[in-house]
Amino acid sequence: MPFGFEQSLACRKDFPALNQVRADGLYLSFLDGPGGSQVPQSVIDAIAHVYATCNVNTHGNFPPSIEIDQRMQRAREVLAAFLGAEDASCISFGQNMTTLNFALSAAIGATLHPGDEILVTQLDHEANRGPWLKLREHGVIVHEVRLLASGLLDMEDMAAKINARTKLLAIGASSNALGTVNDLKLARDLTREVGALLVVDAVHYAPHFPLDVQDLGVDFLLCSAYKFYGPHVGVLYSRPGALDVLPTTRLIVQDPKAPYRIETGTLNHAAIEGARAAVEYVAGWGSGATLRERILDAMAGIAAYEHEIAKSYYDEVRSIGGVHVWGPDFSQGLRAPTVSITLESVTAEQAARALGQEGICVWDGHFYAARAVEILGLAARGGLLRTGVSMYNTPLELDRLLAGIRRLA
Ligand SMILES: Cc1ncc(COP(=O)(O)O)c(C=O)c1O
Repeated sequence: MPFGFEQSLACRKDFPALNQVRADGLYLSFLDGPGGSQVPQSVIDAIAHVYATCNVNTHGNFPPSIEIDQRMQRAREVLAAFLGAEDASCISFGQNMTTLNFALSAAIGATLHPGDEILVTQLDHEANRGPWLKLREHGVIVHEVRLLASGLLDMEDMAAKINARTKLLAIGASSNALGTVNDLKLARDLTREVGALLVVDAVHYAPHFPLDVQDLGVDFLLCSAYKFYGPHVGVLYSRPGALDVLPTTRLIVQDPKAPYRIETGTLNHAAIEGARAAVEYVAGWGSGATLRERILDAMAGIAAYEHEIAKSYYDEVRSIGGVHVWGPDFSQGLRAPTVSITLESVTAEQAARALGQEGICVWDGHFYAARAVEILGLAARGGLLRTGVSMYNTPLELDRLLAGIRRLA
């Protein structure tokens, strides 16, 4: 059975946060997935299991250390299956996506020369802009791909700004502010022509769509487990061989090979085990002979379900007077189930606060996609009111949100 309404209702039982009886009597609707998703009990259990049984350091010659080594290796294999990576050695872990991307940009930056060019986008989260903009301090020239009022990137502008001096394009797979899904195939073709690296921020994409890093042909791709039902841990995919040639900042005692080359100090083993459990939880909603097949099947079903209910929310909310919907139309191809609006009557912050008092959890502001909000001219009024749909959200919750927005409008 593909993932649909029944499965969404059923999966809610697995998430303790969705079923909590609160002292204030509020029933919560978590429509804040782009900021972070809730975790199923199996993830909580996996984290607890590490602390209860093998909370020791890796590479020791005693049983719990051997167990944690095996668990870390298994986690890399499972995340490799999630992303479609060649093997476990392509998967590095870190504190979060931002920290990993700073480490990556510093390492790549050390190979660049003054006058070399990097391209970022006006649509991206700051986590995929700031680390690259920082390289300006070393004489690297950073250009930006223009964001159009439609919420799409100007791909002609991208093509025009890629030239023989371009060493890297940093681009999001999907916008956490507007739900835009970018044309990564075109980005890859354009960068390949000039031999530039392609670094993809898939933090907002990974929870909503099946991913295939080999098919995309990316050099590096980053995501964050807390957006796909896991704990706070960052994940970096590196194309085989791509990490091994980078001068990463590391200790001389550290393993210099991928995937360890960019991992500093002791990792958060419990969180990594939780990330493994999160992927296996998602895979449990799919069918197939292999873990990869189950992941792809589950993610295809989740994508279709989320798209359907987000699209119907989008159609309803845009028909409310005094509401402006931002981001691409749902009929224009692939789009993440993330819908941002502004209201004429109240600011996004006032709206989020009022909805929050009713137990509806939605975000307001720029969500660190500050450049996009600035370009759209929305910064002065406090940005956007953002609704995100996750696998556990139901049409009923979106109806509840719509009723709240109608009252505010
Ligand atoms: C699109 C996108 N990129 C990057 C990040 C940063 O991820 P992290 O919190 O793991 O550093 C976020 C977080 O919201 C995001 O939405």
